[in-house]
Amino acid sequence: AFMMQQFPEGFLWGGATAANQLEGAYQEGGKGLSIADALPGGPERFKIVDQPDFDWSIDEDKYTYPNHKGIDFYHHYQEDIALFAEIGFKCYRFSIAWSRIFPNGDETQPNEDGLQFYDRVIDECLKYNIEPVITISHYEMPLNLVTTYGGGKNRALIGFYERYARVVLTRFASRVKYWMTFNEINSALHFPVMGQGLVASNGGNEMQNRYQAWHNQFVAGAKAVAIGHQLRSDLQIGCMLLYATTYAYDANPVNQLAALKENQAMNHFCGDVQVRGQYPLYTESLMNHYGFSFKDLEVTDEDLAVLAANPVDYIGFSYYMSTAVNVTDKSLATANGNLVGGVTNPFLKSSDWGWQIDPTGLRIALNELANRYNKPVFVVENGLGAVDQPDANHFVQDDYRINYLREHIEAIRGAIADGVQVMGYTPWGCIDLVSASTGQMSKRYGFIYVDLDDEGHGSMKRYRKASFEWYKRVIGSNGEKM
Ligand code: BG6
Repeated sequence: AFMMQQFPEGFLWGGATAANQLEGAYQEGGKGLSIADALPGGPERFKIVDQPDFDWSIDEDKYTYPNHKGIDFYHHYQEDIALFAEIGFKCYRFSIAWSRIFPNGDETQPNEDGLQFYDRVIDECLKYNIEPVITISHYEMPLNLVTTYGGGKNRALIGFYERYARVVLTRFASRVKYWMTFNEINSALHFPVMGQGLVASNGGNEMQNRYQAWHNQFVAGAKAVAIGHQLRSDLQIGCMLLYATTYAYDANPVNQLAALKENQAMNHFCGDVQVRGQYPLYTESLMNHYGFSFKDLEVTDEDLAVLAANPVDYIGFSYYMSTAVNVTDKSLATANGNLVGGVTNPFLKSSDWGWQIDPTGLRIALNELANRYNKPVFVVENGLGAVDQPDANHFVQDDYRINYLREHIEAIRGAIADGVQVMGYTPWGCIDLVSASTGQMSKRYGFIYVDLDDEGHGSMKRYRKASFEWYKRVIGSNGEKM
């Protein structure tokens, strides 16, 4: 008889957020400015910061800065975590704002106020038996590290990150078992501003700088792995990749090879280093493609030893979309909304923001990653950014979101049946928050509606959407009632 594949006991159902996109209170508790605080709101934000003469100063007359206010989680965290508990979250993935702990990034002593805020958040989670899952750095590098040090390409950042990671790991490791080093580390291939603090004005257009920044991040992350394991032998610290399953458009071997190369460059390069502890065979060929050589990077023997000794424990990744590669037919439309580019796949539909929706691609991603690395995988982001239309009682009937999530959870179930060890599932923006790529509130992902618009108007009150009850049932039945 047919048996539905069960989700394993202890599967980490939950939700995910990032400090810069929900906390607000950007200058409270001794916090310094982060990159995200200097990013203007609106879909043009990446283009604006990439102007050759962009100078990072905050100009309230010219731009809005939605991250300053976020959804004010800083003051609402008790209410919000209570709502997560009501859904039945087993875990909550959030990030620590680096600039709350080291306001300028280069201090020698941490800011105690900032640490105490995360003490409170963690304790609030534990009160409900919600396992915290912490991203150490999620698109929120202290701005001073960009303006004074030139961003991630500067080797000084290895030491600054190490100091920061040591402080937060030491403080929280006894209460927090699951960690990740850098959010979507590979996203810098397409947008280096968020993860690496690199823009046109500080050399972000040169690929060599991005690879140097990656190298620095690999070493810094490996040091965090070492610190974490010293503090607690069962501590689990993963990498975090932006995974966009990449297909060849057709069976033309030329397109197949191009897709393979695109997979190496985008989906696999960072993970290969972080999981295997060494640079992959195709490193030199990839760097030559971008016009430089591995020898041009600043890499020490000690760096390579640190990488080799400290691979990550699991592969965390975000999954929103897939993409297709075609180099033989230039007339095909490009998948404009897709953050990772590629051509439009005729078999898929897109979200309102042009991201191609592909649940089967998630099952493929899980199989690819788990079999490539032989380590557990954790879907730490997934979801549908959509415009919600609340009724007079602020209720949102978000069936489109429920359908999206259901299909992706079914894909995870399929991957588990394929033999993949999946640790958990934390849909993105479990409570509405500021979008990373567009700085909009109107691009919503949550189970919880937050009354706030793109201009910053609204009561900030929280309301349960239809997906709230649905996800509660899913978790309550460990994936049986979908
Ligand atoms: C990922 C990021 O890229 O996707 C998140 O880790 C981000 O920070 C999420 O918010 C969704 O993207 P967006 O641009 O719709 O907010």
